Amino acid sequence: MLDYYFITGTSSGLGYALTKQLTNIKNNFVIGFARHLEFERSNYSHKHIDLSSVVNVLNYDFPNINNAKSITLINNAAVLGEIDYIGNLSDDRLASTLLVNLVAPIILCNKFMRKYKTIELPKTIINIGSGASKSPYDGWGAYCASKAGLEMFSDIIHKEQEIVDTGFRIHNIAPGVVDTKMQDDIRNTSSNKFSRMDKFVELKEQNKLYSPDDVALEIIRIIQDPSAIDTVSHRIELIK
Ligand SMILES: NC(=O)c1ccc[n+]([C@@H]2O[C@H](COP(=O)([O-])OP(=O)(O)OC[C@H]3O[C@@H](n4cnc5c(N)ncnc54)[C@H](OP(=O)(O)O)[C@@H]3O)[C@@H](O)[C@H]2O)c1
Repeated sequence: MLDYYFITGTSSGLGYALTKQLTNIKNNFVIGFARHLEFERSNYSHKHIDLSSVVNVLNYDFPNINNAKSITLINNAAVLGEIDYIGNLSDDRLASTLLVNLVAPIILCNKFMRKYKTIELPKTIINIGSGASKSPYDGWGAYCASKAGLEMFSDIIHKEQEIVDTGFRIHNIAPGVVDTKMQDDIRNTSSNKFSRMDKFVELKEQNKLYSPDDVALEIIRIIQDPSAIDTVSHRIELIK
């Protein structure tokens, strides 16, 4: 019997750290989703997919699983998208950011819950959120809106599970500021498109960024211990 993990965005950053750590344990099986990835392990299977294409997401079906001990979906993939003020943004890139960060995870939650609702096992959904869901950063319109939307969607899943319990636990986890490509992208913005850039440069210079491995460990702890947190939304705080 295996613990199954479906994780989007396994090619880099936090998703990669989660995948490495989970596949170190032979009773875990990870199914990863991203456009690129060179990662081979016997307990890892990769689906090359562009989540900015709604057709790709609509066509995906979660598999039948008959040897699971638990099943977890981690909606981790996201992009900052084009950083600029609204009115200057490309419509296409705006749409693509919302598709990856909000539409894809919402559809995957729906498909996941439809597929596994009658199976009686520990079933967990982790949507990776962000402090940006509550902080209106200039230049980050699509990113902030998508993370706020995903957080609300997570709250609604939780509320519905209180009414019609089909056994799903859901958390929306903000990982803190993590040393990944996304932070590189933030620091490479020009400050006339994002007035808070200095804050992120400073955090990096002061070595305040969390390591993806430390954050991944904490997320795995939360998944494996249902009593670890008792709120839907949670922000990871590590000692730095
Ligand atoms: N880093 C931070 O400080 C921070 C802070 C708050 C929240 N977060 C959240 O943490 C999560 C992980 O971010 P990260 O920092 O690890 O970012 P990252 O290193 O940039 O990784 C992003 C992942 O998303 C995947 N992805 C992007 N566009 C995709 C697409 N069109 N189709 C399929 N996959 C796509 C990428 O894979 P491919 O490019 O191979 O497709 C990659 O694996 C995100 O939800 C992010 O919003 C991060």
